[in-house]
Amino acid sequence: MTDNALISLHGIADGGFAEAEVVIDGDAESLLLYRQGDAVRGFLNICPHAGRRLDWAPGQFLKSREGHLVCAAHGASFALDSGECVAGPCKGDRLRAVPVQVRDGNVFLA
Ligand code: FES
Repeated sequence: MTDNALISLHGIADGGFAEAEVVIDGDAESLLLYRQGDAVRGFLNICPHAGRRLDWAPGQFLKSREGHLVCAAHGASFALDSGECVAGPCKGDRLRAVPVQVRDGNVFLA
């Protein structure tokens, strides 16, 4: 893996999630990474409901049968294409997208 890569593409199961620690504008942040085929989306690992992490343990995210990301704290569901909360206590809010790109089989901040 190249030095500043977050993770290798194959380090994320297709349709699955990973978590990466990054520094954005000088602040340490936890990122949620979601892989779909050769594409990866990034979001801050912060739920818009109560600001909690979305994973129940580092890198362990829940996915519903409908294919939504489910916040481990109070069960808000998020569409993974847009980050929009489609059900639960913060319906209509959004996860904060963080642009990432895949290069040479590795995932980088864009
Ligand atoms: S903090 Fe995510 S649903 Fe409450």
